[in-house]
Amino acid sequence: MEIILISLTLLTLAILMILVGTKGKPLTLVYHFNSVTARIVDNKVQLLTLSSLIILLALFAYFYYAMPHVDAGPVQPIAFSHRLHAGDKQIDCRFCHSYVDRSIHPGIPPVEKCLYCHNFIIPKHPEIKKEHDYFDTKTPTPWKKVFYVPEHVMFNHERHIKKEVQCETCHGDIEGTDRLKRHDFKMGFCIECHRKEKANLDCWLSCHN
Ligand code: HEC
Ligand code: HEC
Ligand code: HEC
Ligand code: HEC
Repeated sequence: MEIILISLTLLTLAILMILVGTKGKPLTLVYHFNSVTARIVDNKVQLLTLSSLIILLALFAYFYYAMPHVDAGPVQPIAFSHRLHAGDKQIDCRFCHSYVDRSIHPGIPPVEKCLYCHNFIIPKHPEIKKEHDYFDTKTPTPWKKVFYVPEHVMFNHERHIKKEVQCETCHGDIEGTDRLKRHDFKMGFCIECHRKEKANLDCWLSCHN
């Protein structure tokens, strides 16, 4: 990505320098090499301004397009996107995370669930081929965990979901995110809401083991 941008910038810069230096007739470069270098020297202020402008534009493009990827979470074994599935396609969270209100482990859907759709939807997509590989070899997909509570903290979704605490209150904008970012929950976050909602504050009994 960066390499393409940098080489494109350099290339445009070179072409522009030639065009400006030859007043739009690049072929004269071949005949009058000396006078061209003289023109470049004559026009150095304009050329410098032009090139800094181009570099600024390239930098802007770089930060605008490349940076979000740097900011994204860990690369997952399959390029799964919540923004696409839960956002654009409006698939319910519970369709995939079915046990979220019933088990301590809401669970990441097994690949069978993906294939329920992807046997029919874009079945030949290279990322979907990976699903088949995991399925055929009966290997659980090695998804990387991203939400953490400190060790020895017992967290259970059930009580929260019964009280209709929304997923996004704790997990943020999942529907708008392609690659989930690592997040470490702090005790203060739990306590603050428990205080406000008058939920259990007896830490040792309820949260820590
Ligand atoms: C309810 C149906 C459904 C389920 C279940 C489902 N998907 Fe999808 N998925 C879609 C649709 C619809 C698209 C968009 C297809 C298109 O681009 O035409 C898609 C697209 C994708 C893509 C391609 C994205 C891209 O860059 O083009 C990947 C990869 C993917 N899904 C992975 C998964 C994985 C992994 C699972 C299981 C955890 C899964 N999907 C479960 C419906 C589903
Ligand atoms: C099509 C299936 C699908 C849907 C719909 C879906 N998820 Fe997921 N979810 C996954 C998969 C696969 C992973 C593991 C890969 C990853 O982290 O992106 C995951 C991971 C997560 C995680 C991270 C768990 C961890 O610590 O690793 C959270 C939190 C989560 N989903 C919440 C949600 C919420 C909230 C919604 C609804 C807005 C939702 N999901 C909708 C399939 C789905
Ligand atoms: C009160 C805060 C809270 C709410 C509300 C909440 N979660 Fe979570 N969720 C957590 C915490 C904390 C963890 C990490 C638990 C752990 O690591 O033991 C987690 C972990 C997860 C995981 C990963 C579990 C795993 O097995 O790795 C998924 C998936 C998930 N949540 C989905 C959801 C969905 C879907 C909803 C809404 C229906 C939801 N959560 C609502 C706090 C919450
Ligand atoms: C947005 C509000 C909110 C946040 C954030 C929140 N909780 Fe809760 N929690 C509740 C509510 C409300 C209840 C009470 C449910 C009930 O009365 O059944 C509850 C209940 C609990 C219980 C059961 C307590 C009991 O009575 O046995 C535990 C354990 C718990 N929360 C742990 C956590 C942990 C750990 C975190 C942080 C990762 C957290 N909660 C974050 C609102 C929240």
